[in-house]
Amino acid sequence: MSSTFTMSLPLLFSINLLISISHISEAAPVFIDNYCPDTKPFLPNSTYQTNLDILLSSLSSMAESASNNISSSGGFSNATGGRYPPDQTYGIFLCRGDIDASTCSNCVATAAQDIGWRCPGKRISIIWYDICMLRYSDQPIYSVMQQLPAAKQVNGLNVTEDPSGFFQLLNETMDDVLRRAPSSGSGKKVAAAEAELVGSQRLYTLAECTPDLTASDCGTCLRSAIARLPLETPGGKVFTPSCNVRFEVYSFYDPDLVTVVTVAAPPPVRLLSPPAQVTAPEAEFPR
Ligand SMILES: *[C@@H]1O[C@H](CO)[C@@H](O)[C@H](O)[C@H]1NC(C)=O
Ligand SMILES: *[C@@H]1O[C@H](CO)[C@@H](O)[C@H](O)[C@H]1NC(C)=O
Ligand SMILES: *[C@@H]1O[C@H](CO)[C@@H](O)[C@H](O)[C@H]1NC(C)=O
Ligand SMILES: *[C@@H]1O[C@H](CO)[C@@H](O)[C@H](O)[C@H]1NC(C)=O
Ligand SMILES: *[C@@H]1O[C@H](CO)[C@@H](O)[C@H](O)[C@H]1NC(C)=O
Repeated sequence: MSSTFTMSLPLLFSINLLISISHISEAAPVFIDNYCPDTKPFLPNSTYQTNLDILLSSLSSMAESASNNISSSGGFSNATGGRYPPDQTYGIFLCRGDIDASTCSNCVATAAQDIGWRCPGKRISIIWYDICMLRYSDQPIYSVMQQLPAAKQVNGLNVTEDPSGFFQLLNETMDDVLRRAPSSGSGKKVAAAEAELVGSQRLYTLAECTPDLTASDCGTCLRSAIARLPLETPGGKVFTPSCNVRFEVYSFYDPDLVTVVTVAAPPPVRLLSPPAQVTAPEAEFPR
C-alpha cells in the first residue's frame, strides 16, 4: 500500500475550571477513522464477500471466546476467510492493552459490523476506534509491519505557557514508551508513561504495536508514528495499521491494566495560560 492520508480533526474539548468526569463502567468504542483504498471492488454475491463474512465472524467470535476465558489475555487475534487466493482474506484485530476482554469483544463486534458499511466492496480496509482496530486484506498481513496510512487527531488547543518545556517533557515520556513497548512481553507490546505538570495536571502517554511484530519492527513503526504527533498541543493521537501512540493531559487508560512508569521531569511544566483544565470527553477512562 503506497497511499498516505493524514487527517487533522480538532477534537471537542471543553475548558472548564471545574473538573466533571462522570463514571462509566464500560467504555463504548469511539470511532476515529477508516481507510479503504480504491481497489477493484468485489461484488455482493462474490466469493470474496463470502470469505470476508467468514473472516469477520471468526474475528468477532475469537474476541468473544477470549472474554469468556479467564486465563486468556485476549486483545489480539488473526484469522483467515477462504482457502485460495485471490479470494482468500486475512484479518487482524487489536484492542488497546489496558482494555478488558469483554470491552474488547464489544469493540471488535462493533468494528466487524461497521467496516461493512464504511468500506463497502473494498478488498482492503482498516477501521480504528479509540480502544480497538480491525483490518483485513486480500494479502497476508500477519507479522507484516505497516507504518502507513496514519490517521491523526489533535487537541484543538495550543500549549501557551511553556511550549518548549512541554515539548521536552513529551519527548522524554515518548522516549520511555518507545523503549519499553516493543519488548513489554506477556503477549502484548504496550507501554504507558506519565509525568507531572504544574498544578494537579499530569501528562499521560501510551504506545502500542500489534504483538505479531518483531521488537525491531515495532520500534520502527512507533518512531514513525511519534514523528507524526502534534507536539504543540496538549493532546494528540496517531493510528497506523501496525501501531498507535497517544498523549493527553487527562487519564485515558486503566493504570491497573498496563505498566505505567512515571517519568521524573524537573522542573514541572505549566500548560496553558491562564491556568485552565482540559477535561476529558465523557467516554474516557475516569480515574
Ligand atoms: C445474489 O444471488 C442470489 C441467488 O443467487 C440472487 O437472488 C440475488 O439477486 C443476488 N444478488 C445480487 C446483488 O447480485
Ligand atoms: C483459554 O486461554 C488460554 C490462554 O490463552 C488457552 O491456553 C486455553 O486453550 C483457552 N481455553 C479455551 C477453553 O479456549
Ligand atoms: C495467523 O497467522 C499465522 C501466520 O500467517 C498463521 O500461521 C495462523 O494460522 C493464523 N491464525 C489463524 C487463526 O488464521
Ligand atoms: C494555535 O496556534 C496556531 C499557530 O500559531 C494558530 O494558527 C491557532 O489559531 C492557535 N489555536 C488556538 C486555539 O489558539
Ligand atoms: C527526543 O529528542 C531527542 C533529541 O532531540 C531525539 O534524538 C529523540 O528522537 C526524541 N525522541 C522522540 C521519541 O521523538
